Amino acid sequence: MTSVSEIAPDLYRLSTYVPEANLQFNQFLLRDEQPLLVHTGMRGLFPSVKEAVARLIDPATLRWIAFSHFEADECGSLREWQTLAPKAGALCSLVGKVVSVDDVVAARPAQALDDGELISTGKYRLRFLRTPHVPHCWEAGLFFEETQGTLLCSDLFHQNGDVEPLTSADVIGRARQTLLDYEHSPLASYMPYTRQTAPTLERLAQLKPRTLATMHGSTFTGNGAQAIRDLAAVLKEILGAE
Ligand SMILES: [Fe+2]
Ligand SMILES: [Fe+2]
Repeated sequence: MTSVSEIAPDLYRLSTYVPEANLQFNQFLLRDEQPLLVHTGMRGLFPSVKEAVARLIDPATLRWIAFSHFEADECGSLREWQTLAPKAGALCSLVGKVVSVDDVVAARPAQALDDGELISTGKYRLRFLRTPHVPHCWEAGLFFEETQGTLLCSDLFHQNGDVEPLTSADVIGRARQTLLDYEHSPLASYMPYTRQTAPTLERLAQLKPRTLATMHGSTFTGNGAQAIRDLAAVLKEILGAE
């Protein structure tokens, strides 16, 4: 069962809790003239996520499907979505498109976005930021909805558990604990710490987001710049040791 919560105007968080992983998988639907879905979820979640989208719009009218990097929770059901919605175009980085997406999961060639490129959906507009290896993968990028100040932050701020949809309380403690738990599990080395990590996170902080919409865990509302700088300190502490 996928639950639906509005976390910013016309931006809905579709959340499916998977108990075996103690983990939520969240997609975000921007309901606008050109409806846009952020992350598809895995193929196994498709029936449940489709039913959740159908509570908000006719799924066949979906126009855009945006995602950060090439993993099952980001874009695994892209082909299923594009088959259901004949005008739905995939949005990702050039590296994502040419290295994996077009060959493996896309029903139609993806639209590769340049760093800083803007997509308008009607009332809302998304800025694409190329963020290689943040949170992970060469092809990674993130989307920032500029009118409301919402950063769609993929795996950044990942918090385990079946947590509340939206919070203004600190999420850094939970994100830090999740990262530590992963480091001591078969899922260790979840994120790389590279020369690009700190400057990329600082660039995100300078967007001054008011809402941080993460794929796994609660959406945070509040001082997004401070939260990103706090997360940068945690990543340096846990992953960046010399
Ligand atoms: Fe990921
Ligand atoms: Fe993820």
